[in-house]
Amino acid sequence: MKSVLVLNGPNLQRLGSREPEIYGSLDYQKLVSTLEQTASELGVTVQVRQSDSESELISWLHEATDSGVDVIFNPAAFTHYSYAIADACKIHTTSGAKLIEVHISNPHAREEFRRISVISSAATGVIAGFGFDSYLLALRNLSS
Ligand code: DQA
Repeated sequence: MKSVLVLNGPNLQRLGSREPEIYGSLDYQKLVSTLEQTASELGVTVQVRQSDSESELISWLHEATDSGVDVIFNPAAFTHYSYAIADACKIHTTSGAKLIEVHISNPHAREEFRRISVISSAATGVIAGFGFDSYLLALRNLSS
C-alpha cells in the first residue's frame, strides 16, 4: 500500500482556536482523522505530523526523500521565508518524489508578506484556499 507523509508547520496544532474566521473551527485532531479516513477510502496510508521546529521539519523531509515517500506539506509561516526548508523540498522533488504544498487559507488574498512562497518553486504543485479540502485534493492526486 502506498504511503504519504503529511507535514504541518508552526501553529497548525492550534487549529480550531486560532483565527477561526480564517482557518475554520475544526481542530488539528479533526484534520488528522479526516486525512486518515480519506486515505483509507483511497487505499493509501498516511502519517500526519506537526512541528514548530524548522530543524525537525527538515529532518522529516530528508527521511521522506530517503524512503521515496511523497509528501503533502503545509509549511505555515515558514512558507514565506525559510530557504532551508525550501532547499529540503528541492532535494525531495529532484530525487523524483512528489511534494504538494498546501494551505488552508488563500495566502494570496491576505497580507502582502503571505503572497511570497519560497517553497512553491520546489513543489510539484500547490493547492490553497480550500480549507481542509486542500489536503484532501492533494491526497487524491498522490493516490491516483
Ligand atoms: C497557512 C498560511 C500561512 O500564511 C500561515 O502562516 C499559516 C497557515 C495556511 O494553511 O493557510 O500558518 O499556511
